[in-house]
Amino acid sequence: MKKSFLYILPLLLLFSCKKDKDNTTVTPPSTDTSVTLTPYTIIMPAHFPKMIIPDDNQPYVERIMLGRMLYYDANLSNDGRSCGGCHLQQHGFTTNTMVDGMPVLPHVNLAWYTNFMWNGSKKGTLEDVMLFEVKDFFQADLAKINNMPNYKTLFKKYFGVDNITYKELSYALAQFTRTMISRNTKYDRFMLGTENLTYDELQGRNIFFTEKGDCFHCHINPVMTDNLFHNTGVDSLYAKEMDKGLYNVTGSTNDLGKFRTPNLRNVALRKNYMHDGRFKTLEDVVEFYNSGVRKVNNLDPIMTKPGKENGLKLTALEKFQLVEFMKTLTDPTFITDTTLAPY
Ligand code: HEC
Ligand code: HEC
Repeated sequence: MKKSFLYILPLLLLFSCKKDKDNTTVTPPSTDTSVTLTPYTIIMPAHFPKMIIPDDNQPYVERIMLGRMLYYDANLSNDGRSCGGCHLQQHGFTTNTMVDGMPVLPHVNLAWYTNFMWNGSKKGTLEDVMLFEVKDFFQADLAKINNMPNYKTLFKKYFGVDNITYKELSYALAQFTRTMISRNTKYDRFMLGTENLTYDELQGRNIFFTEKGDCFHCHINPVMTDNLFHNTGVDSLYAKEMDKGLYNVTGSTNDLGKFRTPNLRNVALRKNYMHDGRFKTLEDVVEFYNSGVRKVNNLDPIMTKPGKENGLKLTALEKFQLVEFMKTLTDPTFITDTTLAPY
């Protein structure tokens, strides 16, 4: 009796702090008809494009809670790792430590993605990429998970299964990660008309969103990535295997050096930039766009538009302003949101 109360406790806490659910109840695909799931309404920021949510994994408070438990649970791996151990909230769900020579990609607004990883090695829905994470990356031990009484009980109640498989684990993780939405940066508030930018931030914004800097063609507002692949002239020799980017996935020479555009939300909280973390500051990244772009065969045409054949030719002040603008993409609400933190 006491034990089962403990399992319900985190649920009660979750229910009590969620204001954005509606009250309709739906009978889950469970043999236990006494259980009802609470539909969860994801608050879509008005200025965002429509989010993709598969019909068979519509959001429920209880399933999001299960995903949140798994995200922070080292039991999901067999070597002490948890998702939250590399994807840390205070850094915008990434970390400053490089992993396998790569910066850890942040978990932010992933719900809008269809291409995942620096080189696009994973495609599909959030459910698809989560399946890869639990099955191939973590090689989660299903026997172990099925032997954990709390998961056994909760997955039975909220997914209606007697035997937890990779599918339920990935669906639960997708439910949780879909709620990791950054919508409250200073720049969002500026767009909604509730906050002003400083003079330098505004100037930087103009560079970013006009032909002068041309950043906006790929780092598209408001999600802050177009989720597509580009060769931006970071390399010409592709000295490291990983520098070949999308080529390593498709084998097409046209894809050499192409990477998926990274999301710039919370970019100022990161310490390693580009697919191999070669730049350590935003100033270095801006200087790359200003004067370091290499003219390779499949260079994205945006990089050398007429007038920019030899770089952006920004002044020191303009470079400073561009960095100031990128700092307005930091979202303090997102990195302190307790509904995204461990219990
Ligand atoms: C050891 C550190 C580490 C752990 C633990 C970890 N990740 Fe990651 N994650 C990374 C790295 C590094 C990348 C970038 C890999 C790449 O691009 O090939 C990444 C990328 C991702 C991406 C792609 C994001 C994007 O923008 O395309 C997703 C989704 C993801 N991780 C989910 C998870 C989940 C879910 C877990 C737990 C099951 C997890 N990660 C655990 C290091 C980690
Ligand atoms: C043609 C598309 C394109 C344009 C235009 C573009 N970017 Fe990028 N950006 C990318 C891609 C792709 C990467 C990743 C490259 C890599 O990993 O080697 C990137 C990486 C970055 C990064 C590093 C992010 C991280 O997490 O590592 C920053 C910062 C950045 N761009 C800012 C800018 C700014 C500022 C401009 C305008 C001056 C700009 N970008 C123009 C596609 C583009």
